[in-house]
Amino acid sequence: MKKSMIDQVLKGHVPEHIAIIMDGNGRWAKARALPRIAGHKEGINSVREITRVCGEIGVKHLTLYTFSTENWKRPSSEVSALMHLLLKTIKEEIKELHRKDVRFTIIGDLDTIPLKTANGLRDGIEMTKANAGLNLNLALNYGSRQEIVEAMKSIAHQVKSGAVLPENIDIEFLNNSLLTNNMPDPELLIRTSGEHRLSNFLLWQIAYTEIFMTDLFWPEFREEQLLDSILDFQSRERRFGNIKEMIQG
Ligand code: IPE
Ligand code: IPE
Ligand code: MG
Repeated sequence: MKKSMIDQVLKGHVPEHIAIIMDGNGRWAKARALPRIAGHKEGINSVREITRVCGEIGVKHLTLYTFSTENWKRPSSEVSALMHLLLKTIKEEIKELHRKDVRFTIIGDLDTIPLKTANGLRDGIEMTKANAGLNLNLALNYGSRQEIVEAMKSIAHQVKSGAVLPENIDIEFLNNSLLTNNMPDPELLIRTSGEHRLSNFLLWQIAYTEIFMTDLFWPEFREEQLLDSILDFQSRERRFGNIKEMIQG
């Protein structure tokens, strides 16, 4: 079944960049009378499976919304449990990711998360930096508005110093000033758990991204669901403002 789904997916255009808002871990746990952290733990099994499948079908970049700048508002017990879980997971998984030629990267502010976690993540980035396979990119302590503000500040400094003329600032220039400067815009954005909002994720980059929403909670989103979402994506007509199908790239 999955093998034939993969064959089907490979007949069409596989998105170069998939971005996912992994939502619903807490509700998945609540539905089973478990603590929220049990949902986050189960969510890691989805991350592992989705990463593996993306590597197998040739996705180039997989950006996973892991912790938003707004998630600091949560109870400190949940925040610290999440930070511990992140460190534990990266330590357990990084060698296997490295073996699979995965390049691990982060977008977001590593300087203001707990030092042990930040250092564990930095080690993973360093270990895999020369890999040429799937780019597994975690959006961590990430907020799209903050990212745009930082880009604006950097551009303002460059203008002030005379290095850049205002008339030379265009879409490409802003693209290159963002944390995602080394990757194409996502072609497919997935959000789980039935919420229909963006929650400060990649606001600039998703101008023409196809959006797939599912009521399933993130721990329930696995290989079959990912392949389904890509088949759905492949069935769409992307117009980019034109009047007939214009597939980019
Ligand atoms: C997503 O699941 C994971 C993070 C935001 C860290 P949630 O923790 O938001 O789960 P729900 O939305 O409360 O069910
Ligand atoms: C978005 O989920 C952030 C992540 C998945 C990391 P949230 O659960 O934080 O989003 P809201 O609060 O429902 O908008
Ligand atoms: Mg949520």
